[in-house]
Amino acid sequence: MSKKLVVAVCGATGAVGREMLKTLHDRNFPATEVIPFASARSAGSKVPYGDGELTVRELTEDSFAGVDLAIFSAGGSTSLKFAPHAVKAGCVVVDNSAAWRMDDRCPLVVPEVNPQHLEAHKGIIANPNCSTIQMIVALKPIHDAAKIKRVVVSTYQAVSGTGQKAIRELETQVRQLFNMQEPEVNVYPHRIAFNVLPHIDVFLENDYTKEEMKMTNETVKILGDPSVKVTATCARVPVFYGHSEAVNVETVAKLTAAECRALLSQAPGVQVYDNPREKMYPMAIDAAGEDMTFVGRIREDETIENGLNMWIVADNIRKGAALNAVQIGEELIRRDLLRVKDEDRNTFL
Ligand code: A2P
Repeated sequence: MSKKLVVAVCGATGAVGREMLKTLHDRNFPATEVIPFASARSAGSKVPYGDGELTVRELTEDSFAGVDLAIFSAGGSTSLKFAPHAVKAGCVVVDNSAAWRMDDRCPLVVPEVNPQHLEAHKGIIANPNCSTIQMIVALKPIHDAAKIKRVVVSTYQAVSGTGQKAIRELETQVRQLFNMQEPEVNVYPHRIAFNVLPHIDVFLENDYTKEEMKMTNETVKILGDPSVKVTATCARVPVFYGHSEAVNVETVAKLTAAECRALLSQAPGVQVYDNPREKMYPMAIDAAGEDMTFVGRIREDETIENGLNMWIVADNIRKGAALNAVQIGEELIRRDLLRVKDEDRNTFL
């Protein structure tokens, strides 16, 4: 029998939580027990795990005794409320929300990019925003090879990033429109079916959305290089799974399209899929359900000296959320870091 390793999935009934359970099982994560938690509303309900089912428990401040790793995907306010109690109980937290990402005490980690940041963790590790994760696995090798000066990114983001209720809203609106009914609008500020919304998360003082500023700030934190400038426009599109991104990169050193293709072909977590003559390029429908981040349409930006354009697509629920979080768990085990030091237990209370 292997050493005890109890994993809590907090938000287990949600879109990411369900994928988390599937990812833990599919990757043979060495858990001796997996416990699904959600709100009181879901207590007693069942969620699939492998060939069987697990019974959902209500998440409370006392849920973490004996738990080694808690993966949260239950929204920022739930994380802010419960994660400090998990750490107090000696349980390491990997959090999918934005709540802890820019907190200096919390590493923000994409295992292919900055696993070394885990070494300094004090109990809470933040999982970056889905749009940031898929962009940065492709940008990191380019930054290492040619030093990135500036990134201009436009996203085309799937509704699953908003959770189960948004998946249902797109389904319902499509059905209503085909039945000549007025679509009900509840989750987004406008209809999402057959529409594109240049609005993800709330607007900030500078007229960018919070989602756009997450891409800017999180990229700098993960790369550990404030000289990298990122400007983003984030749009929600009527796609169920898979975020697409048009990314323009300006570098200090010259990198040809062929060199970039060769570089990214070797990059961990990245698959180059780039043969425009054969109409081969990454698409959300192909990326859905996959672990890799797909990069295609790689070409030189002919308007500047050292620039590249590319199209990056990944499953936002897998690499953008569940898979990245599980990979963080795997990396913590590999580095023997799945513990909270006694002196760190009260860090977040
Ligand atoms: P529940 O289903 O009981 O509401 P999604 O991102 O797909 O909307 O899912 C959100 C997840 O977060 C769900 O599992 C949801 O559980 C969970 N959740 C929301 N609020 C809380 C809370 N206060 N405590 C625990 N889990 C919560």
